[in-house]
Amino acid sequence: MKKIFITGASSGIGHALATEYARRYQHQGVTIGLVARRSEHLLKIAHHLNQYYQTKCYIYPCDVREANAVAMSAQDFIQQAGVPNIVIANAGVSVGTLTDYQEDINAFQTVMDINVMGMVHTFQPFIATMQQSRVSGNQAQLVGVASVAGIRGLPGAGAYSASKAATMTYLESLRTEMQHYDIAVTTIAPGYIRTPMTDINTYAMPFLMDVDVFAKKFVDAVEKQKRFTVIPWQMGVIAKLLRLMPPILWDRLTKHAPRKRRKNFQK
Ligand SMILES: NC(=O)c1ccc[n+]([C@@H]2O[C@H](COP(=O)([O-])OP(=O)(O)OC[C@H]3O[C@@H](n4cnc5c(N)ncnc54)[C@H](OP(=O)(O)O)[C@@H]3O)[C@@H](O)[C@H]2O)c1
Repeated sequence: MKKIFITGASSGIGHALATEYARRYQHQGVTIGLVARRSEHLLKIAHHLNQYYQTKCYIYPCDVREANAVAMSAQDFIQQAGVPNIVIANAGVSVGTLTDYQEDINAFQTVMDINVMGMVHTFQPFIATMQQSRVSGNQAQLVGVASVAGIRGLPGAGAYSASKAATMTYLESLRTEMQHYDIAVTTIAPGYIRTPMTDINTYAMPFLMDVDVFAKKFVDAVEKQKRFTVIPWQMGVIAKLLRLMPPILWDRLTKHAPRKRRKNFQK
């Protein structure tokens, strides 16, 4: 019986992952923990997965910025379902920010708190029990959702790019630490995926991928215990080139690039 804990499960990628795991493991059995703030969305998703795939779901309406709330959700999941095989830290927000504007300071803080600290809050309460459960032969894996936007700093997205660069580096540290306990750590860096997060973008999004297709490739990568992968692969090629590009070229390329919309961010 697989046990999977997913944050950001009320929408987009998290919802699609829960559905893909339920579909893929419906005959072997799977129990899923669903975390997000919007409880009504979680309830609907849990009901749907139970009805169509007989998947047992536990829902945890909470904010990943609140370490105690996430820890209590984790403890309850461990008590009810057992130590998860896979924990996916996927919750995240994206908004345009500019350092010139004092009113954007809150947005910087919010994006960092949710995207970076939210990931730490998600993994932390599971690690000790995962280390113990490895002794009895359980597979254990931590999966973090980063972004191609974290490979280079995008104009107008200082908070988001910095937060995703931070998650990638954090996940790499974690991977090196967890190898002593045989706990796999996987970083998934999505390109452009069709979700409510990208629906509001007015600029061209190369290699835009449907979220259901993305979820299948995501679960495949997790099963192969990949260390780092970019989905779709075409964005992976671009990401490799971006890493090599000298700063002077990056500045020229991005001088007139479109920017994510700034907004009064109150999440
Ligand atoms: N879509 C893309 O093209 C793309 C590309 C690269 C990376 N990503 C990353 O993929 C992840 C999922 O994004 P998405 O595209 O699926 O966006 P989405 O549809 O907007 O979903 C974001 C999810 O995160 C949850 N969330 C946000 N803030 C939260 C908080 N404080 N506490 C708990 N849950 C929170 C939301 O739930 P509630 O609002 O109910 O709390 C929602 O379930 C994010 O980390 C994003 O940065 C997406």
